[in-house]
Amino acid sequence: MKSYQLAMGGGVDDLKTEEHAVPRPQTSEVLVRMRAAALNYRDLLLATGRYPRTQQASIVPLSDGAGEVVEVGPAVTRFRTGDRVAGIFMQSWLSGVMRDGDGDSALGGSRDGVLCEYRVFDEQGLVAIPAHLSFEEAATLPCAAVTAWHALFARKPLTLGQQVLILGTGGVAAFAMQLARAAGATAIVTSSSDDKLARMREFGASHGINYRATLEFSREVRRLTGGMGVDHVIETGGGGTLLQSIAATRRGGQIHLIGVIAPGAIDPIHILLASVGVQGIEVGSREMFEALNQSLALHRIHPIISRVFEFNEAQAAYRYFERAEHIGKVVIQIA
Ligand SMILES: NC(=O)c1ccc[n+]([C@@H]2O[C@H](COP(=O)([O-])OP(=O)(O)OC[C@H]3O[C@@H](n4cnc5c(N)ncnc54)[C@H](OP(=O)(O)O)[C@@H]3O)[C@@H](O)[C@H]2O)c1
Repeated sequence: MKSYQLAMGGGVDDLKTEEHAVPRPQTSEVLVRMRAAALNYRDLLLATGRYPRTQQASIVPLSDGAGEVVEVGPAVTRFRTGDRVAGIFMQSWLSGVMRDGDGDSALGGSRDGVLCEYRVFDEQGLVAIPAHLSFEEAATLPCAAVTAWHALFARKPLTLGQQVLILGTGGVAAFAMQLARAAGATAIVTSSSDDKLARMREFGASHGINYRATLEFSREVRRLTGGMGVDHVIETGGGGTLLQSIAATRRGGQIHLIGVIAPGAIDPIHILLASVGVQGIEVGSREMFEALNQSLALHRIHPIISRVFEFNEAQAAYRYFERAEHIGKVVIQIA
């Protein structure tokens, strides 16, 4: 079998394939024939040595993938041969609050990821994927979709008629928009590109704001919400956008701090004066992934995928992702 190998911080040019024997599942393990994998911003950070968590010197990259079960160990009870599955982002975070150490079980960072033809998982580290999704679609879920679901529904759940501000048009943002709309909320999306905003509107976004043309985008958010401000913010920017996000949020509203794309720092007095909540979000648990899957199945939501690459085009997929031409997700097929 082939698997990709990435030297941490070595850059995308160092992405290479290696040949291995197909592994055999032990007692409570499941052998999955991987069928598709998807890229996240984290994968670029890892490839370029900008990811903060401790890592191995070299790994099989990518956290997100889906495939079919081809063999199970003798003690496996959760899955059977032929089941369609996806790996969970942190293999040890099954439910409840994230514990210290769960981050060390994240795929494609601390542990080998899924850009390979076969991979053995502990049976606890997998979920069944929704029947209406292809492998390519299901491969997009473990990081971006679970993060969006965690932010909007796991803590202070979004309710019918609320308003959500979503920064950017990438993976997390696109899922947040789709989930917010399915829940009966208004979704205001920001982007550097009018073309991307138009595409997001076609997929259901209620309003779009170009954050390059409108630097103080909070003013436009206030206008769109009748002066009130939004109930939730999907804050994928980080320190560089947080001040605008606070200014766009109603008192008592919730900012879900997710991203690190826009560096910067703010004085915390702004959080106090606006009376908003700021909550750090780190992907999510298996329980959250399963709840997400129920919502996707109920609402027949299909992930937004900009482009699908072949297995032997992984470098091109990384390059395309790096150019940030996509909305939603970028996928690599594993034939
Ligand atoms: N905490 C967690 O658990 C978690 C999980 C997943 C992702 N993340 C983080 O969330 C962020 C998004 O991840 P992703 O995988 O969805 O990325 P992605 O698909 O690469 O999308 C990134 C998007 O960010 C937008 N963006 C760039 N600069 C921006 C700025 N100054 N203000 C607002 N938006 C900006 C861009 O939107 P336009 O091109 O439309 O301008 C781009 O499409 C990353 O920082 C990632 O590390 C965190």
